[in-house]
Amino acid sequence: MPRVRVTRRLHFSAAHRLYRSEWSDERNREVFGDCSNPLWHGHNYELDVTVEGEVDPTTGFVLDLSRLKRIVEENVIRDLDHRNLNVEVPWLEGMNPTTENVVVAIWGQLRPALPEGIALTRLVLWETPRNYVEYVGE
Ligand code: NI
Repeated sequence: MPRVRVTRRLHFSAAHRLYRSEWSDERNREVFGDCSNPLWHGHNYELDVTVEGEVDPTTGFVLDLSRLKRIVEENVIRDLDHRNLNVEVPWLEGMNPTTENVVVAIWGQLRPALPEGIALTRLVLWETPRNYVEYVGE
């Protein structure tokens, strides 16, 4: 059976602040720029989830994309959408919520939730329409 990769894009909006608590506001602003505003700010994130598996000869699908959407919504989006990433998400606790750190944490949330035979192969997290990070696992 051919193995094919399929991708679903999902959206969430969230607030954050990038900072290190042991640094002054001035030093944080130098390193993290506008993302270190002490009174928070938000981003409209896009998350591209790519999975790979064999094409089912009956359905012609690797995985029904509406099912993939539901899995990502239940395990990731529900926890992040309209939240403050610094203080409201247990699985981001203690983390500076850069796009890099968040995409790795999303991987950890999502991989165990996928059905057997479906491999998570790539996550792309867009923080703005011009900036994105990509993660393909350890
Ligand atoms: Ni930011």
